[in-house]
Amino acid sequence: MNPVYIVKHEYAINRLDREKLNKHKSFLVWFTGLSGSGKSTIANLLEKKLHELNVHTYSLDGDNLRSGLNKNLTFSKDDRNENLRRAAEVAKLFVDAGVVAIAAFISPYIKTREEIKELVGAENYIEVFVNTSLEICEQRDVKGLYKKARAGEIKNFTGINSVYEAPVNPTIEIKTPSDSPDVAVSKIMEVIKSKL
Ligand code: PPS
Repeated sequence: MNPVYIVKHEYAINRLDREKLNKHKSFLVWFTGLSGSGKSTIANLLEKKLHELNVHTYSLDGDNLRSGLNKNLTFSKDDRNENLRRAAEVAKLFVDAGVVAIAAFISPYIKTREEIKELVGAENYIEVFVNTSLEICEQRDVKGLYKKARAGEIKNFTGINSVYEAPVNPTIEIKTPSDSPDVAVSKIMEVIKSKL
């Protein structure tokens, strides 16, 4: 392969300037949890809350990115990692844009989440583990995917025939259903308000 020569451009306006204009800091809130755990519901409510507080936000989630930027990717381990690498790179751009980026991906592997943290910088990364048991996610089965996975119609389905490695030390742990979405958002706000 030919070597690639890249020289980064320095722009006059940087993240600090954008944060100043936005009147708040930027960082990434990364949700992880099983399919149907409630990641997107809580992320959505969090974004509404931040929006009310005049905080500039942008939400990224698995289903949405996989219908565009990541539409060529499957749920194999390599493709999940590529899906998450791209999502993290996009989130990093949003953080550089002075925006609070909110990402909701199953992101099943500890090592990959560590890499995401390293990519965006530990000081910019807040990990929210939406801890909902497989049993409850399967009972909810909002999209009917667990049923299909049990019937063998979906291979590599997280929790059924593909691993989910729970975080050992997340910034915030939300336990559902005991924590309602409103309680979850309050817990997250408690942690992030000092970072804004
Ligand atoms: S990952 O593992 O982080 O790359 O997954 P992600 O990009 O977040 O995509 C998860 C959504 O894809 C749907 N779906 C599957 N999930 C898990 N395993 C398999 N095999 C699968 N196939 C499709 C599912 O709707 C997930 O959405 P959520 O919002 O998590 O329920």
